[in-house]
Amino acid sequence: MPPKVAPSMLASDLARLAEEARRMEQAGADWLHIDVMDGRFVPNLTMGIPVVQSLRRHTRLPLDVHLMVAEPERYVERFAQAGGDYIVVHAEATAHLHRTLTQIRAAGKKAGVALNPGTPLSAVEHVLDELDMLVVMSVNPGFGGQAFIPQALPKLEHAAKLLGSRLGRVELEVDGGVTLQNAPACRSAGASVLVAGTSVFTAPDPREAIAALRGGRA
Ligand code: DX5
Ligand code: ZN
Repeated sequence: MPPKVAPSMLASDLARLAEEARRMEQAGADWLHIDVMDGRFVPNLTMGIPVVQSLRRHTRLPLDVHLMVAEPERYVERFAQAGGDYIVVHAEATAHLHRTLTQIRAAGKKAGVALNPGTPLSAVEHVLDELDMLVVMSVNPGFGGQAFIPQALPKLEHAAKLLGSRLGRVELEVDGGVTLQNAPACRSAGASVLVAGTSVFTAPDPREAIAALRGGRA
């Protein structure tokens, strides 16, 4: 199965979000990835609940909401109501990961956990039954356009092993610095969702870029 491609809207022209979402939809994107930053868990501020709510009205694509936010449990219900489909929290950002994941599912949404490059996979070992997606960060979160950290590849392989028979039901996403050059390695390491910001939005033809990331042709 080719992986899904989720363009990161952070790399879009944020003054034209609806048009940019439509452009990605027409280019064959599977999901849209929304990077929410709070200036505390990460040293940057981006978009929040009203942006997700507005974007929801302009696209049918599933919204993959990546919360780079301290104590994300404070916002789960509001992002759910705003129209996120996957709600992803960082294991490093919540003291009660199991409870937060349960809270996301109770809000009727798919629950995801993201791990920083420095965080071991053992952080999710005991919450696998509560997971709909595991996100292996291939950059330190906070900014788009950073270089892919190669240690993410063996980590993806280990993550795929850890998920075992859950793979398929549980998505394995790689996020940060994904390009046409490293996408084949991400795919063979077991990623089922590729987040791509810069590499899709700066491509002369996003349709071709998305198809190539998936391992095919436009
Ligand atoms: C990093 C974000 C990523 C990033 C992806 O903090 O979580 O989603 O914006 O963008 P590129 O592909 O440009 O690294
Ligand atoms: Zn992200």
